Amino acid sequence: MNDCLPTQSPLWQKIEGTVKDVISAYGYSEVRMPIVEMTHLFRRAIGEITDVIEKEMYTFEDRNGNSLSLRPEGTAGCVRAGIENGLLHNQEQRLWYMGPMFRHERPQKGRYRQFHQFGVEVFGLHCPDVDAELIMMTTRLWRKLGVIKYVRLEINSIGSLESRASYCKKLTNFLMQHEPVLDDDCKRRMHNNPLRILDTKVPEIQAILTDAPKLSEYLDDESKQHFAGLCELLDEAGIQYTVNEKLVRGLDYYNRTVFEWIAESLGSQSTICGGGRYDGLVEQLGGKATPAVGFAMGVERLVLLMETLELRATRHVVDVYMVTSGKGTLAAGMKLAETLRENIFGLRIMMHFGGGNFKKQFKRANRIGASVVLVLGEDEVAKNEVTFKILRGGEQRTISQDDIAEKLGKLV
Ligand code: HAM
Repeated sequence: MNDCLPTQSPLWQKIEGTVKDVISAYGYSEVRMPIVEMTHLFRRAIGEITDVIEKEMYTFEDRNGNSLSLRPEGTAGCVRAGIENGLLHNQEQRLWYMGPMFRHERPQKGRYRQFHQFGVEVFGLHCPDVDAELIMMTTRLWRKLGVIKYVRLEINSIGSLESRASYCKKLTNFLMQHEPVLDDDCKRRMHNNPLRILDTKVPEIQAILTDAPKLSEYLDDESKQHFAGLCELLDEAGIQYTVNEKLVRGLDYYNRTVFEWIAESLGSQSTICGGGRYDGLVEQLGGKATPAVGFAMGVERLVLLMETLELRATRHVVDVYMVTSGKGTLAAGMKLAETLRENIFGLRIMMHFGGGNFKKQFKRANRIGASVVLVLGEDEVAKNEVTFKILRGGEQRTISQDDIAEKLGKLV
């Protein structure tokens, strides 16, 4: 779990601001959910035989003996909130959220125990046009952030629940013939969740899988059409993608479309965004059957990617630094600063505290990155004046305090 330090926060703010602007450009609304939910919500939504449920949740009992968990992702809570508040039945919802998620994974570069996601969830629309819109939205975001050349899109269809069940049977039969080569994890999943074996990282098992039955051959007609519709819309939008038949995602609620954006340069934790359809989840969690599709992106991974590309955000925190010296000048300076904050929207003024001569105070103004210093000595206060100096070789003048707001409004 990481601290986000003042040196890093400008890049976080840039990413957060850009994501919010891009999502808003599509007419989506923000929703905020609690970071803690009943444990059984996640078990039911994400699936018992998944890494997240089997080994990654922070689960504890509260004082009433209820089992609660820190949220490992946002989709389950978003669906719960939608059902509980009557947002989903016979309605369309286009929602987004942002916040911390928690998974007790082995930490490494790009994988943390507290991490942050931006998530988008759409309810009530079943056609591939909305799947395409979500992918277009992420494409726009990568372009705005300057990373589009360094990411690639993989998509797949994992079909309906029924077609997947018949495929899983075939896959289990196939895997049983190769049982001696499988590791313990795969042996366990072979019967309960064989699909997850498809994205194994173990080379020997990957080799066997080249001869395994193909998911695409078992897709139902409607899923095939849906996928063809999505591909057509992406082609028309000029978005490049590869179809990865082994892409199944790590959470159980998906059906039909699944997709991931990958930034190769990040190494093993290279997925910066993942999502797909989950048309069965609302009903499974107690709501009326409602189609749904969404994605989430990992903010830390985006930060890492932008740092490796040297796309740092440098934002000085201050426009104006106020220095004072002499009796009564600090109070007068603080008063003047308040007036200026009131009158110039967005102006950032920092007061110098702690005394010292002007030289020391100017040094500090330079270090902090201010562009203008305001100077108040006893003389200025007595005459209701103030001296302004534009740093790094600019103009210096003493003017009436009544005129400084107008002057600053032009300078910063
Ligand atoms: P997910 O693939 O588990 O999907 O997570 C989405 C993204 O969160 C990942 O692609 C990655 O960028 C980031 N992420 C996941 N785990 C970590 C971690 N330990 N450290 C840093 N970043 C991480 C979901 O969570 C789904 N709820 C997405 C979704 C929304 N599907 C439909 N709607």
